[in-house]
Amino acid sequence: MVDLLLGLQWGDEGKGKIVDVLTKDYDIIARFQGGPNAGHTLEFDGIKHVLHTIPSGIFHKNAMNIVGNGVVIDPVIFKKELDNLDKFNIDIISKLLISRKAHLILPTHRLLDAASETAKGKAKIGSTLKGIGPTYMDKTGRNGMRVGDLEFDNWKTKYRNLANKHEAMIGFYNVDIQYDLAELEEVFYEAVEKLKELTFIDSEEYMFKAQAEGKKILAEGAQGSLLDIDFGTYPYVTSSNTTAAGACTGLGVAPNKIGRVLGIFKAYTTRVGSGPFPTELFDNDGETMGRVGNEFGATTGRARRCGWLDLVALKYAVQINGVTELMMMKADVLSGFKNIKVCTAYKYKGEEIQHLPYNIESENIAPIYTEMKGWAKDLTKMTKAEELPPALNDYIAFLEEQLNVPIKIVSVGPDRVQTINR
Ligand code: GDP
Ligand code: IMO
Ligand code: MG
Repeated sequence: MVDLLLGLQWGDEGKGKIVDVLTKDYDIIARFQGGPNAGHTLEFDGIKHVLHTIPSGIFHKNAMNIVGNGVVIDPVIFKKELDNLDKFNIDIISKLLISRKAHLILPTHRLLDAASETAKGKAKIGSTLKGIGPTYMDKTGRNGMRVGDLEFDNWKTKYRNLANKHEAMIGFYNVDIQYDLAELEEVFYEAVEKLKELTFIDSEEYMFKAQAEGKKILAEGAQGSLLDIDFGTYPYVTSSNTTAAGACTGLGVAPNKIGRVLGIFKAYTTRVGSGPFPTELFDNDGETMGRVGNEFGATTGRARRCGWLDLVALKYAVQINGVTELMMMKADVLSGFKNIKVCTAYKYKGEEIQHLPYNIESENIAPIYTEMKGWAKDLTKMTKAEELPPALNDYIAFLEEQLNVPIKIVSVGPDRVQTINR
């Protein structure tokens, strides 16, 4: 069986931390979609690590780490990630395996991303500009380059043809994008050589075998359900299926082999980039969440937009993914709020609704809140469920009742040890 760990909001829920916490119970950690748009933070022994492409199980000796076919890899960023790990004495060659079917992000994909965003002006997606959209476009357009192509002598010819086409496309956007492709290519070629030092595998075969041998596998999601290409707040989404089904296509796991579906959410909500966010706050409360929660993007450093928990959106994500257990992150950030609000319905076109409408724009939706008592206690030193303050227990009980799924972990700080099991 393969368990899934998925973000249920707009990303940055704390997936990296929890995968790291859970890795001791697994033999394999596998990423199945997204690319270096992700920034997954892990903290232990006083050191903070940010991973973009490499699965968050990499610091544990017991687990293999797989980059699945659904992931898009930028060799340049990947090389930087590997360089950052150098000093930690990890046996990367034997602990990290890359799917031959994963697609490559080329320097021109990044340029195309920038050109597309510039051309969109105010309507821009707020992309991380890592070339994610253009790379998945080439994948579905059947023009992409895959990791396995690097094993053939003619890969540079293939690259050249695609890059030439991309340059023509950049011209089509008619925007002022400055770049020196020769310089970018030099860095890219060097990074490709580094990537080629790693072990490429037919990851679906590897996964079949691992399952047959009874290995315990955890699939690590990137982004969150509301950024899903089909079910997110389109067009303000990413270009992959971030939801449970993405793990099937992104790793070659059959739907009937999925076991637990672990859904992870923050005790409030954040979003980075453009797009609708019904419970977004523009007041002191939002400012406090951002400051106390240190809400800055792990990949781009951009300030994250903050707001109250949106149960309408969270219920939707629980349904789409078939979540079997929940993990609530960053409960510590809400300590000190006199009252805590939870959005339980929207006012939309004069009516009260409890689903996400097709035309979801923050301007035409008003959240309807249930207000609960806050707690003042600092949670960050707590280690047991019995220590949690009554008002937080009430908050948790309310969410469990509304979502009809148990909350099994409450996270009270960024470090591995600041994790409470219930
Ligand atoms: P991911 O993309 O889902 O892995 O999440 P990110 O790493 O982008 O963002 C989560 C941020 O919150 C990181 O800076 C984490 O170190 C931090 N974090 C995770 N869990 C907690 C928590 O329970 N409390 C606090 N205060 N910070 C947390
Ligand atoms: P993790 O895995 C938060 C957002 C971007 C933008 C939109 C499209 O760390 O949770 P893209 O670069 O994919 O073209 O951007 O999606 N986005 C994320 N937001 N966390 C992420 O990943 C994200 N990956 C992409 O900000 O709004
Ligand atoms: Mg992140």
